[in-house]
Amino acid sequence: MPESNENGNGYDFVVVANRLAVNHVTNEDGTTGWERSPGGLVTALAPLMESSEGAWVGWHGAADDVLEPFDHGDMHLVPVPLSSEDIEDYYEGFSNGTLWPLYHDVIARPDFHRHWFEAYRRVNQRFAEHTAQVAAPKATVWVQDYQLQLVPAMLRDLRPDLTIGFFNHIPFPPPGLFAQLPWRHSVLRGLLGADLIGFQRASDASNFRRAVHNRMGYYVEDEMIHVPLQTNAPDHGSPLAGFNADADRGTAVRVNSAPPAGVARLVEAKEFPISIDTATITALAKREDIIARSQEIREELGNPETVLLGVDRLDYTKGIRHRMKAYEELLQNGSLTVGQVCMVQVASPSREGVESYRLLKEEIEQTVGRISGEFDTLSHPAIRYLHHSYPIEEMVALYMAADVMLVTALRDGMNLVAKEYVAARRGDDGVLVLSEFTGAADQLRQALLINPHDVDELKAAILRATTMDSEDASARMENLRRQVVHHDVRRWATDFLDRLGELTGVVSVKG
Ligand code: G6P
Repeated sequence: MPESNENGNGYDFVVVANRLAVNHVTNEDGTTGWERSPGGLVTALAPLMESSEGAWVGWHGAADDVLEPFDHGDMHLVPVPLSSEDIEDYYEGFSNGTLWPLYHDVIARPDFHRHWFEAYRRVNQRFAEHTAQVAAPKATVWVQDYQLQLVPAMLRDLRPDLTIGFFNHIPFPPPGLFAQLPWRHSVLRGLLGADLIGFQRASDASNFRRAVHNRMGYYVEDEMIHVPLQTNAPDHGSPLAGFNADADRGTAVRVNSAPPAGVARLVEAKEFPISIDTATITALAKREDIIARSQEIREELGNPETVLLGVDRLDYTKGIRHRMKAYEELLQNGSLTVGQVCMVQVASPSREGVESYRLLKEEIEQTVGRISGEFDTLSHPAIRYLHHSYPIEEMVALYMAADVMLVTALRDGMNLVAKEYVAARRGDDGVLVLSEFTGAADQLRQALLINPHDVDELKAAILRATTMDSEDASARMENLRRQVVHHDVRRWATDFLDRLGELTGVVSVKG
């Protein structure tokens, strides 16, 4: 039975994400409490939760800690416990050592370990059970991201009455790469438990539909996938079929080019590009103290003519090394001079339990040390490297202080930093250099789009950005701003949930 709320019925709208919507904080007086997470997803969904009996199911961030559900503001929070072993095998292992690199074009080598997948399945089942407990009859459940791809089908199995959406925040790989995954059928079946599967880019949605068509043999018509409700084929049957290793080994499927006879569930797979809380960022950019702070930042950097900025989680997908290499070469050949220019790189600590992240950190620290040692002067730094996370107020001040924003990701589901930079620019100045391998590049067409693997192109774009005339820069920025003002994260959430509400579910084709 669903857990009771005030109505005694469970919750009508449930979000399921690896991380809970609140962080545990220690106050100055030593007391502890919970604070709403600052991220865009929480900002977008919190108002919906507050107006619709909402609950959020997720891990609260500490190992081996079992907490009872609790309320925070108008949100009901359902903590899912993870043991140290779960964190090692499900979070650092299968999620961030297998899926993350595989889904990001194998920039780092994915590791395939059976015990990691076992943990992934076990933890996904736990998330599904916690959700099934709190969802009201016929509730809408929205599952988030690659850590929970098995949850939709597990949940449908437990609670066929629910309407289930899934959103993948990271890329979905091309079928040739996805095919490497030993548990590819389980993942596809898991996702197909949803009624609507959202992706960042049209190409991600199409990669997914092609994988389903090729591997499962299901009929796909535009964005709709026909998932047969009864079939004799043990490998490729309903997504409700069990998750087992044998099913994953099946490969030879008959691909349907017309809807097969029988009853099928319709599942839509389509792009819904995520965005940011634009209004909050533009409001911060108008605050006197934040404007003053942005001026102070430029002074602290020795008042260079041009401030270049990079802001990323310290992740190998972000192309931080490529960016630094281009910058270093521009200093070496004299195209840029210290004093005239300064680079600020904020790299927030991330996933330090995963080896590839530890190695990247060492490499970046070495590169920064080399650039500083060679080019810093007593009065002017060539580069400021900040291995910290900052509150949004400080980030907005940094965006305002930066003349050029460098987003050079090798692969990125969306890249919200690019959108935040645009939202934070008050006048129509500032230039965004943006990798074409980000989801944001589909919408921010007036940025200077680059291939970060091409170091000469990247150097040319940095120089072009530092010397761009203000008319060109402001025409571009005005266009970019229009994009992020009209397409903010609330619109993303509403578009997705409206579509989920419209979907009809089943189709019957006569033989
Ligand atoms: C990406 C993922 C999110 C994840 C975030 C931070 O944006 O799409 O699901 O929460 O990175 O990573 P972490 O591993 O710290 O949750």
